[in-house]
Amino acid sequence: MERNGHPADTHGEMENSWSNTPELRGIGVPLAKYNFPKDQRRLGGDFSVEENAKRLLRFFYFERNILRALAGWSMGTPEFEVKVEFGRHIYWHAEAGMKIRTRLSELRTAEETTDKFQSAEIAELFSELLYSETPAHLVAALYGVFLPHLKQAYLEHSAHTDQVADAPTVRMIRHILSDYEEMIAWGKGAIEAYVQGGYNEAELHKWQYHIEKLLRSMGGITGTGTLMPRPDSLRSEGKPPFERSFIATRDPRFGTFEHTYEYQVADGGRIEYATDFDKLRLNLVRTQRDEMDAIETFGNVLYEIRDVPFGFDYDLSRIIWDETRHTELGHKAMEALGHNPYDLLNRLLGIKVRTKMPALYSFAEINLFGEANIVQECLRYAREAYDKGDDLTGRKFDFVNADERTHLSKGVHWLKHIFQTDSVQEIEQKTKKVAVDRLLELGIINHDVALTISHRELAKIIGE
Ligand SMILES: [Fe+2]
Ligand SMILES: [Fe+2]
Repeated sequence: MERNGHPADTHGEMENSWSNTPELRGIGVPLAKYNFPKDQRRLGGDFSVEENAKRLLRFFYFERNILRALAGWSMGTPEFEVKVEFGRHIYWHAEAGMKIRTRLSELRTAEETTDKFQSAEIAELFSELLYSETPAHLVAALYGVFLPHLKQAYLEHSAHTDQVADAPTVRMIRHILSDYEEMIAWGKGAIEAYVQGGYNEAELHKWQYHIEKLLRSMGGITGTGTLMPRPDSLRSEGKPPFERSFIATRDPRFGTFEHTYEYQVADGGRIEYATDFDKLRLNLVRTQRDEMDAIETFGNVLYEIRDVPFGFDYDLSRIIWDETRHTELGHKAMEALGHNPYDLLNRLLGIKVRTKMPALYSFAEINLFGEANIVQECLRYAREAYDKGDDLTGRKFDFVNADERTHLSKGVHWLKHIFQTDSVQEIEQKTKKVAVDRLLELGIINHDVALTISHRELAKIIGE
């Protein structure tokens, strides 16, 4: 056997002559110059593995607290565009957190350790942030102070760590920062919009200054900066943990209803439909836009359920982003069908029922009843729309069906974890009881109905 014209190796001969064999140079032409792009990275960094992990743990904790702060303010933020953007950014922060957690696991820090990490001073900072007076104050502090400080801390970390030994951290930070550019730019526009809309700019600046002062008093994001004086007083001082709004706030562009789940009843015949399909289509499109309440429900669950692995935050955050997309799809489809989205009344019945239910039950209700139902509805609808040649909404609901199937499986996984049981039936039964009690309390059903109400009917009333 011959290769490249050389006789086949005989026992030992190749081993002995290897370092001088022309084959060592490989095939191709030996180059006259070796001017490949130079690797400019500096060797040596400021951090040991321990110091690196210590700082990454704080970054992780900031990301986790930011996404939970956004979730906690979802109900109390009426402005449509802001609610939607919170829904998106919750997931951007969850992704950042997950990347950092994974990197930490490569730096001798177990995921369980990362998930349990606490810092009293950072917790106090977030408690103060959560006690923002209005959504505009929250946006001003979060997007105008926290995010720019985090961006700076990330940049410094990636510049100071060993560029070669710690390259995975450097690359990770680069990816995280691409989302930060987008979020900070959006925040700037949003603060301007709040000011144009009537908020006092000086007041928002004052709150930003206050939050920044508190952040600097603990040495900044990394805790290694010069310790500056604390603000004289805190809004959150001596108060219990911030409680999220129990009202699903809607800005005044929306008309709302809560006495029924039927759009036609709420509309009182104001909208005419040429065909049954038209009616079915607009109903489903409205259901999607009104999944603003799904953003809120999952936001409440994420804010209120504690002592869970970060995987819970991550999955819930992703579901929230999906529900955000469903809301956007509904809103845009309304426009595509020739409606002004704000003319179509927004249904609040589901969130009104869920808002006072303990978080684990509102989670079980929306997942096992609402989402299980919408998976079927979307599939049926998509088939019919394709048949009728309406590819636009057919495809849209085809994607929504795909999303909702993942929500079901993620939801069931975490429900079993939280309820500490493997029996979905058991969770369903308990949840049905809590939901029926709440419907009775609100006077939406009477005692006779309560005794016989089916799974499907309940799903229809409360929905996703
Ligand atoms: Fe959805
Ligand atoms: Fe969903």
